[in-house]
Amino acid sequence: MNRILVIGATGQIGVELVPVLREMCGADNVVAAEHAERLPDDIRTAGPFTSVDVTDYGQVEAALREFKVDAVFHLASVLSALAETRREQAYRVNFNGLYNVLEASLANGVKKVIVPSSIAAFGPESPRDSTPNDTVQRPTTIYGISKVLGELMGNYYQAKLGLDVRGVRLPGIVSWKAEPTAGTTDYAVEIFHGAIEQGHYTSYLKPDTYLPMMYMPDAIRALTMVAEADSNRLLHHADFNVNSMSFTPAQLADAIKAKMPDFTIGYDIDPMRQDIADSWPNSLDDSAARAEWDWRPRYNLDTMVDDMLKNLQARLRKVGTGPGGNETRRAAGS
Ligand code: SER
Repeated sequence: MNRILVIGATGQIGVELVPVLREMCGADNVVAAEHAERLPDDIRTAGPFTSVDVTDYGQVEAALREFKVDAVFHLASVLSALAETRREQAYRVNFNGLYNVLEASLANGVKKVIVPSSIAAFGPESPRDSTPNDTVQRPTTIYGISKVLGELMGNYYQAKLGLDVRGVRLPGIVSWKAEPTAGTTDYAVEIFHGAIEQGHYTSYLKPDTYLPMMYMPDAIRALTMVAEADSNRLLHHADFNVNSMSFTPAQLADAIKAKMPDFTIGYDIDPMRQDIADSWPNSLDDSAARAEWDWRPRYNLDTMVDDMLKNLQARLRKVGTGPGGNETRRAAGS
């Protein structure tokens, strides 16, 4: 990877992946790309940036040509809960956007495309515990269907057309720099904001909803490791399970309570997101990723909660949204 385009650079993963790639490959070699409406001022100072609307083939192609890109991280996606209510937008971004990125990459000399998949690529008919890497998928959400498309298209472009497409099935991702936008696993980020700002959080998932989760540093490692994996060792390409930890809202609340004894949790269930969560696995068997590119997670629930509280407290104090602050966290940005 000599010159990388990161599409979706200001999303939950993008804001953390771009600096890591700039550290690895040199700041000038990593171009942050985002939809023009979401391109914040601070992205303009740290390295090359451009605006790209993935639903417009011409814009994707123009960015690949202008920056002579040889690798793409395609992170732009409408997450699970939002995709259920905005099917048309989700179809344009998640389906057409993916096609535009693959085709434009093929036509413009890109060698490698990284497309994250998700636990959402599984469905109620998949084995629930330690879900195997290769098993029945049949997801029941628009987002999940788009992720299966990404996996199958990625494997097709790799096998038939020689474009090296790779991806990992990410679980819910917990992070403190930026919040996710309308996913089903967002509670696991919101709960930390609730704990620090109000001492309380109301969960939209039931207390015993068990889901696979991962702390952001491990997710970034999974993406960079799969991108750099030795192709001679790969039997899979765009569809690797990666596993880290699994917990329920009640278990996460207990882990937070152990550090913040006054924290309380309540429940007000959102049937749509509960339904989605109930269709996803409890945990993933990631032996293929371990065997083919030495994947190992580093964080567990306790070390993640520790690190999250420390970093989010410091960040919110800095922007004035912690206890006593009066800005909203969304207005404050990261
Ligand atoms: N975090 C995502 C979501 O909840 C799953 O990939 O939509």
